[in-house]
Amino acid sequence: MDVLFVYATNSSGTRLAAELAGSVLRAKKHAVTLKRANGVDPKELKKYDLVILGSCTWERFENKQKLEGQLQQHMYELQQKLYDQNLLLPGRKFAIFALGDDSYTNFAAAADHLVSLISDLGGEIVGQPLKINGWFFHPDENEQKLRVWTEKLATLSARA
Ligand SMILES: Cc1cc2nc3c(=O)[nH]c(=O)nc-3n(C[C@H](O)[C@H](O)[C@H](O)COP(=O)(O)O)c2cc1C
Repeated sequence: MDVLFVYATNSSGTRLAAELAGSVLRAKKHAVTLKRANGVDPKELKKYDLVILGSCTWERFENKQKLEGQLQQHMYELQQKLYDQNLLLPGRKFAIFALGDDSYTNFAAAADHLVSLISDLGGEIVGQPLKINGWFFHPDENEQKLRVWTEKLATLSARA
């Protein structure tokens, strides 16, 4: 498979998670490209067998109001571009992961925003969206969880 990771991060955790998942897929002989969300042209999403979207969960200000449980800014901007361009992605396969911290009310809610986005665009979500808690605080547990999720994803995508 030709796989694109599109990630959005503020303090590098989501990039590191994308790199780790990418190495799991490369070890299984898949071709893997990693891009930051702000370097992605929406049309590129159509070129891959599987697009894995990863975002940390952050806050965003709208009309001077603080919104919690949001997409990272670059992923938010990519989402807006996709809606603005009315780009539909029927039949295209996506997988979703989000980083967060369960001390926040909207734990890893970036994953929920991405699920809504992909269903709005008509894409197909492969596997269960993964929510990762405290990436830097529970490294062994999180790496293991991510490896298992990625391996399962590889099996599901190959079957589909
Ligand atoms: C200002 C701020 C707001 C955050 N808001 C949320 C949130 O609403 N929900 C959540 O689960 N985590 C939230 N987090 C935690 C981050 O998502 C978490 O630290 C994540 O690992 C950061 O990923 P990154 O290293 O890719 O930037 C917030 C962190 C900060 C500093």
